[in-house]
Amino acid sequence: MSRETRRVIIDTDTASDDTQALLLAATSDRIAIEGVTICTGNVEFEYMVENAKYTLDLAGVADDVTVYEGARTPLVKTHEHADDVHGEGGLGGDLFPETGVPSGDRYAVDYIVEQARENPGELTLVCIAPLTNVALALQKEPNLNELLDEVWVMGGAVNYPGNVTPAAEFNFWVDPDAAKRVVRELDIVLFDWGVTVRDTAFDAETLAEIEAGPDTDLASFFLEIASSVRESNEANLGRDLTTQPDAGLMAGIIAPELIEETGTYHVDVDEREGLTRGHLSVDKNNDTGDDVQTTIIQSFDTRLFHQMFKDMLFKRSPEASL
Ligand code: RIB
Ligand code: CA
Repeated sequence: MSRETRRVIIDTDTASDDTQALLLAATSDRIAIEGVTICTGNVEFEYMVENAKYTLDLAGVADDVTVYEGARTPLVKTHEHADDVHGEGGLGGDLFPETGVPSGDRYAVDYIVEQARENPGELTLVCIAPLTNVALALQKEPNLNELLDEVWVMGGAVNYPGNVTPAAEFNFWVDPDAAKRVVRELDIVLFDWGVTVRDTAFDAETLAEIEAGPDTDLASFFLEIASSVRESNEANLGRDLTTQPDAGLMAGIIAPELIEETGTYHVDVDEREGLTRGHLSVDKNNDTGDDVQTTIIQSFDTRLFHQMFKDMLFKRSPEASL
């Protein structure tokens, strides 16, 4: 294992955008996936478990990486799935894998805690789902912050309209009680919905480049699963466009040179039902005087991200052009 290799556990609600993060990690020389944990979120739980296993198989790592099943509901609230965006099964609408691969023999929350305790300071937790599993892990092991190397989270909409309500992004909206606990108790690096839309979107031109590129299995998988997101964006925004929230976060872990600007602030999450459920409040002026512990990625290198993504699809090597 090279000096730069980072050992990660990926906590995911595997639908189309999560698969792209899994593929980036699985094809990267700089990442070793220790395990994948599934959390409530995008679509029905069983679909997400199968989607993760199918994606790991496509990447050629299914024999080495176990999928552990975690929380099937948020801590307190109920939520609606995002099958209007990702298709019923989460992979664009027509693909419903049945891999036959067994899941891990432990509850995902127990797996996260056990691994953190057995490998103190060694593991990075990559969170690309609602934060239910992570909050439950914190309940079991209050020293999680000290036991983990780093925690990276895709979630929240920082001074930007959310993708579920004007106030909230999906992951924080689904389980705001969990998100509140996590941002209060863990030092996290945050990749929010705002930077996702500003700096990771693929417009029609970029999507056409992918369509015209080499016909690899990863490229055709991407184009298939992106179909539902594209239709949803055409209908809602009037534009042919995909966003890559989970892959953006993973690319930032693989290649920190993508990160152009960060700020570290005190943040909190509104867990109340109603208009502001899941809203991420960022105390930019430190009005609260509370601990400043969340590092927010504010600007990201779009050109390099697109290149990494295409190198992953076409060459199975996101680092090929770095
Ligand atoms: O808001 C986008 C996030 O919510 C992504 O992680 C997506 O997969 C869903 O989990
Ligand atoms: Ca996700």
